[in-house]
Formats: sequence, structure tokens, C-alpha cells
Amino acid sequence: MNVLKELRHRTAKALAPLVDDPQPFAAMVKPAQDAQFGDYQANCAMPLAGKLKQKPREIAEQIVANLEVDDLCEPPEIAGPGFINFKLKDDWIASQGQALLNDERLGVEDSEADRTVVVDFSSPNVAKPMHVGHLRSTVLGDAICRILRFRGTQVHSDNHIGDWGTQFGMIIYGYKHFLDQSAFAENQVAELSRLYRLVNQLSDYHAAVKALPELEEQLQSQQQLLEAKRGELDTSDKKARKEIGKLEAAVKATQDRIESTRSKLKEVESDPALKALADQDLEIARHARLETAKLHQGDAENTELWNQFLPACLAMLHQMYERLDIHFDMELGESFYQPMLTDVVDSLKQQGLASESDGAMCVFIEGNDAPFLVQKQDGAFTYATTDLATIRYRINELKADEILYVVDARQSEHFKLLFETARQWGFDQTEYQHVSFGTILGEDKRPFKTRSGDTVGLESLIDEAVAQSRKIVDEIDDSKPDGPELDAETRANVAEMVGIGGIKYADLRHNRDSDYVFSWDKMLAKDGDTATYVQYAHARICGIFRKGDIDRASLRTASGSPLISAPEERALLLQLTRFGEAIEAVCEDYRPNQLTQYLFELSNLFSSFYVNCIVLKEENAELRTSRLKLCDLTARTLQTGLKLLGIETPEQM
Ligand code: ARG
Repeated sequence: MNVLKELRHRTAKALAPLVDDPQPFAAMVKPAQDAQFGDYQANCAMPLAGKLKQKPREIAEQIVANLEVDDLCEPPEIAGPGFINFKLKDDWIASQGQALLNDERLGVEDSEADRTVVVDFSSPNVAKPMHVGHLRSTVLGDAICRILRFRGTQVHSDNHIGDWGTQFGMIIYGYKHFLDQSAFAENQVAELSRLYRLVNQLSDYHAAVKALPELEEQLQSQQQLLEAKRGELDTSDKKARKEIGKLEAAVKATQDRIESTRSKLKEVESDPALKALADQDLEIARHARLETAKLHQGDAENTELWNQFLPACLAMLHQMYERLDIHFDMELGESFYQPMLTDVVDSLKQQGLASESDGAMCVFIEGNDAPFLVQKQDGAFTYATTDLATIRYRINELKADEILYVVDARQSEHFKLLFETARQWGFDQTEYQHVSFGTILGEDKRPFKTRSGDTVGLESLIDEAVAQSRKIVDEIDDSKPDGPELDAETRANVAEMVGIGGIKYADLRHNRDSDYVFSWDKMLAKDGDTATYVQYAHARICGIFRKGDIDRASLRTASGSPLISAPEERALLLQLTRFGEAIEAVCEDYRPNQLTQYLFELSNLFSSFYVNCIVLKEENAELRTSRLKLCDLTARTLQTGLKLLGIETPEQM
């Protein structure tokens, strides 16, 4: 049973005689912040006071008089201005715990079987190796799929890979002009990504050559304006100082841009070989775009190259997903939708949604300055057109009731326009959500890069995590009082689970909207809000069972509810009954950090329980069994919870 939901339900009933719409007030029942006031608390009497023109305490008294909760709670108490405190009965908590012992779902209700959700996540642009920027979508999306499925929702996980975009034109251009045959024979993907980077760099170079004089001119006029204002404004005036501050910031921004433009120039000009390549084609960017256009128009040579490159690129991605234990139900990339795009634009035109503007086809959305571009002047379709075709497919073929896009917050404008266009296009019965997330930062608070300024490759990141974890695993094992227990192979396996688990957990534990700073130390710390800590709590419990030679299955069927003889037992049991609440909390707004937080607290509560309550050596047999039951339930909840986040749990650490 989900206690929170139940208490809200009963509170709604108690509120019914007082207000027309009790739901929002009932939703104010929350887990108590401070255990000394009880387990749950309702603060709805305060906001109701104004509405009902009564004192909050009087309202609280009426609610309490109407409440029927004596099967699960002690009589609710009113505190302060009108807080209602609920304290669950010990024997009720114990009976819930007993029920959980024999429940594979650990109290998570099987709801939503009739709902179909498509989750679009990971979705990298192929032809470049995966890097740290792909991590959040991949890890978050996978956790969301697992959690929704566990709850009973029909999920289609879809990797909407970018296999048709401008990067292919760049690779094809690179292949035609700069290919290193022997490198290509040895490692196709590595050579393709080198070509991609090279063409990108050369295009950036020429763009920088063009931009620099303009930027310098801009700086000059900004500086002149600043000087003039400094002369004419009275700096003792606050408004004037603000204006000058603004101008100074603008000057600084232009100086920064000039600096980064110069460094792009220097990169190429300081390397004679690169410079020679740059001089070969001053219009490399346009020519690469032409290669993309040719591919899109069905040019035989480019199509053949694309067909040759794609499998290798996909194989490299799949290897990474395999290692991360992440799987998709389908992988319908952008290319899959190409045959449908003409029809999409025709349909938008027919409905009067898309219209011509400067030779391009646009959808204008009220209240938005920027139009949604669905076909460019040169006839090329866009990211937007493909996304519209994808929505139609997901609704017509996959019967999606909801579509989630686990994508970087920087694309929020795109999704806003996409969802609105789709609704106006007639797909208005489906819910759309951009499950957006912030950036991973380095210790310098800038987007996480390697020391040389490159993006951090995912493969090397994982290797590093596993190597660092290995040290921790060795350390834990070597310091065991009765000597080490693990052989080298086990240690290596555990290190893989701890390393990958550590990366995933560190990502998931942050509120997805915020940027976070990547820190190896914080990520793998043995005691802290980390996968290592939760995994270790689990392994420790497995150790108790090994040591006592306990048969966990028969424990679950042993008669009698768990006993509550110490506050630590009560706190642990209560937390165990709340697993379902945590899962619901994640699903409310697709925030897996609600689950990491729950698991971290559970591990903490287990730790205090284990410090204060004797388990294997407990002489009272009934109490011993009861405590072993708590251990079993804790281990299963930790294991299931981590699994839902895509994290493995070693039995031994
Ligand atoms: N490939 C895109 C990128 O790397 C992300 C795609 C997200 N999904 C979507 N349907 N637009 O930015």
C-alpha cells in the first residue's frame, strides 16, 4: 500500500464537507520533516483559513474530527497554528512489513497497464564517438524506462539516432579529400571521427577568418561608446552606473569572442600541414553541406558511402550500450523518417499550418517570434520535419499516449514549438514532455572537457571509473578483519559494477534541471550519497546471511510480523514501507533523484539499525528472526531500487 496516497485519500474525504474541491488541499499531506512530530503532516488548515474565514486551528479540529484513520494511525494531533500530525501505529507498520516480505513488487502498485509511453532518449548523432554530453540522456532515459515498466506502464524505448544530419556530409567530404587509407582499414570509426573533427575544424577556421574583422570593428565601436558615456554620465548616479556596467559587460563579451576566434585561427595557422589543408578549400563548409544535400537527394555514390559507414558507427554505439547495460526496444533513427517528410510538409500546408516565408516553409506559432522551419529555401527538410514525422509514427503506429524526450535543456525552444505544432496538426490527444536536463561541468564550472580542451570520451570515462573503483574494492577487501575474501576476477567484476554504477548514480542523484560538477572523489566515496555506499550496504547484508548460513526464502514465510523493539527498527521498517511512494514521486515529474534519495536514506537507516540492534547473535529467537526479516527486506529493496536505476549490486564487496 502507498501510505501517502492513502492518507491523502482519507484527508480528502475528511475535507469534503468543508470545501468543494478537496484534492489540492489533501495533496498537502507530506512526509514529516522532523520525526518528533510524527510520520506525516498536513498543513492544509492554514491556506484554508482565508478561504473559509475561520481560524486555522478550528479548521484543523474539524478535519481531525472527520478523519477516519484509526486503523493505521494513532489519533492525529494538532500542533502550532494548525498542523495535523499523523503517527502510524507500530503494529500497522509491522503488518505492512510482513506483507512486503512476500511481495515481489515491494509494495509498488501495478498501475497504468493501459498506458503507452514512448521514451526518446540517448539519441546521439552517430559518426562521432559518444562523449560525456551523451551520458545524462542515456542514463536518465534508461532509469525512467525501467521505473515506468516496473510500475506496469507499456514502454517503448526508442533511440532516435541522428544518422542523417549534416555530420554525414562532413564525413563524406572528409572521406573524399582527406582519407588515410591504412588508418581506415585498421579502425573505420576512429578514422571517420578524425575526418569529422578535421572538416569541422577547417570549417570553423574559415568562419573565424571571416568573423574576426567584424568582431574587431564591433569592439572598437563598443569601446568608443563606453568612453563617450563615461565622459558624459554622472557616475554618482545609480542608473548611470548601471548603464556603464552594461556597456562594460558587452565589451568584455566581445573581447572573449575575439579571444576564442583568435585561438581557432592559431590552432590551424601554427600547424603548416593543417594550414595547407585549410588553403585547399576556402568554402569547405558549403561544400560539406552540398555533400549532405546530395545524400538527401539520393546521389548514388554518397548513398553507398552512407550505407558503408553506418553499420560501423552503430556497432561502436552498441558496444557502449552493452557495457552500460542499456537496451532499446527500437532504434529508428532520423533516416527512417526520410521517405515521409514530403508528405508531412504537404499535410501541414493543406491544413493551412505551414506557409511560405522567404522561400522557406514555416509554421508560425502564436506568441512566438521565431517560426518553426520545416523546409529550407533549398528544399532541404529539417530536424523539425523529422520530429513531426516521428510524432505521427509514434502515435499512429505505436499508439503512444505520452511521448517523453530526454534531451538537453538547450533544445527547449525546439520542443516547445514542436509540441505546439503537433497539437495544431491534430495530434492533441497525446501528452508530450521534454524531460530536460542541465550540463555536466568540470571542476572549473565550465562544460566538462579534457585537459587539452576536447570533449571527454565516454569509453575513457568508464575505463577511468572502473580503474578508480578497483582501488576502492581492493582497499575494502584488504582491510577485512579476517583477511581478504575476493579473488582477482571477482574484484574486477565488482569494480566494473561499482565504476559504472558510480557514474550512473552521480548523474541521477542530481536534480535533472541543474548543472552539476563532475567529481571523481564525490562520485565514488565509500560514505556519501553514492552508488558505492548503497551497494556496500547491500553487500554487507548479503554478508550477514552468508555468515549465519540463513535461508532467505524460508525467512519470508516464517510466521509473525516483524517486531518493533527499538526506534531504529521502527524507522527502518517505516522507510521500507515507503518504496512505493518513492517510485510514485519519480513518476510525477520523471525525477530519478527521488529514488536515489530514498535509497540513500534507507542505507543510512539500515546502518543505524545495524549499529544499535544485534542480529545474528541475538539470543531471543523471535527477535533474531524479526531482525533478519528486516535485513532481507532492506537488501531486496536496495537491490530492486538500484536495478531500476540501471545499477548492479554485487553480493560481496
Ligand atoms: N540527435 C539529437 C542531438 O544529439 C537529439 C535527438 C533528440 N530526440 C529528438 N526526437 N529530437 O542533439
